[in-house]
Amino acid sequence: MKVLFVDQTGQLGGGELSLLDIVKGTSHTAEVVLFSDGPFRKLLEEIPVPVHLLSAGNAADVRREAGISALLSAIPSFLKLRNKLAEIAKDFDVIYANSQKAFIVSALARRPGQPLIWHLRDMLQAEHFSSLVRLVAVFAGNHAADLIVANSQATLDSLVASGGDREKSIVIYNGISPAPFDAITNQMVDDLRTEFGWQGKFVVGAFGRLSPWKGQHVLLEAIKELPDVHVAIVGDALFGEQEYVDSMHALVQQYKLQDRVHFLGFRRDVPQLMRSVDVIAHTAIAPEPFGRVIVEGMLAQRPVIATRAGGALEILQDNKTGLLVTPGDAAALRQAITQLQTNKGLLQQLVTAGRQCAVDDYSVEKMVSTIDTTIVRFTR
Ligand code: UDP
Ligand code: GLC
Repeated sequence: MKVLFVDQTGQLGGGELSLLDIVKGTSHTAEVVLFSDGPFRKLLEEIPVPVHLLSAGNAADVRREAGISALLSAIPSFLKLRNKLAEIAKDFDVIYANSQKAFIVSALARRPGQPLIWHLRDMLQAEHFSSLVRLVAVFAGNHAADLIVANSQATLDSLVASGGDREKSIVIYNGISPAPFDAITNQMVDDLRTEFGWQGKFVVGAFGRLSPWKGQHVLLEAIKELPDVHVAIVGDALFGEQEYVDSMHALVQQYKLQDRVHFLGFRRDVPQLMRSVDVIAHTAIAPEPFGRVIVEGMLAQRPVIATRAGGALEILQDNKTGLLVTPGDAAALRQAITQLQTNKGLLQQLVTAGRQCAVDDYSVEKMVSTIDTTIVRFTR
């Protein structure tokens, strides 16, 4: 099969890291179209996989909260993208759209009868998208997608609740390889903790892009009253959320946490960093569609505290493979951190069961082979 994968961004979000694994592992012949350049393109080309870069014009400005005027003014850009994509896509057996904008453009660009699969990685909910964006996505999904692959049951349910067709939707979880986590030695952990001055400190790591709904500010609220706890914020604003980054820095100043909060920016050594912290906190205040960082924390054999919503509920079992807290509840997060600081028995239990669950249920090989056979099934 010749599969054309289409994604709207060259940034390294979780959807793109997952697509990287799919493209690396697939037994089909793959090429990728991106609507903007960035580090994702380089990683794809290193595989090597051919990448076609199309310019999105002001279609790039249509964001989650877009209203009618943003959408209308971007129509000419969408049509240009459509024409360019149609030219590339015509020789492929199937188009596999990995993001919402990529799906909308693919729906317009495909030749009659050309199979189109949409990998939906977002919760279609008011917390995440304007009603207009949801309306357009669901309409296109119902009329143009041959199959919708949701990254969790929660994502699938949000699609159905917005009027999407359950009959053409399936769930395929992200797979994540344990190998990069297993490759981290104690020496590497020691070196990193020394480099950051974390020896003898209790460090909570928050991994993920900085964005208001990812809720890293709740962690600052939680630890401001835990004077011996340090925080590592690993990630950056990837999709224009610089204001939130600035507000986080302002909070650190306001709470006088400069000595205890370490902003590390976007990193490519997540496995080593995860193995070097004591606890991993996932703090999303809106339902997380899936949450790769939760599974990664389990593979790193670090206890994970996640918020009780969305995909996190499918990944983590409270008190068995991790701890769940109410989204936005800083006091509950504080209590969970303290519990892990003081109860080493519980910590060890969570870590052991968590790693087993991550290895058993989130294999990359299983994800890729399911996607490969699904592509064949929906293309014939
Ligand atoms: N990540 C990374 N470097 C960073 C912060 C995050 O490589 O500095 C990775 C992280 O390891 C995870 C992904 O970005 O694989 C984030 O995926 P997730 O599903 O947690 O959230 P998303 O950003 O896709 O909503
Ligand atoms: C999206 C979601 C995230 C998910 C990732 C991979 O970026 O926000 O929850 O883990 O896609 O499917």
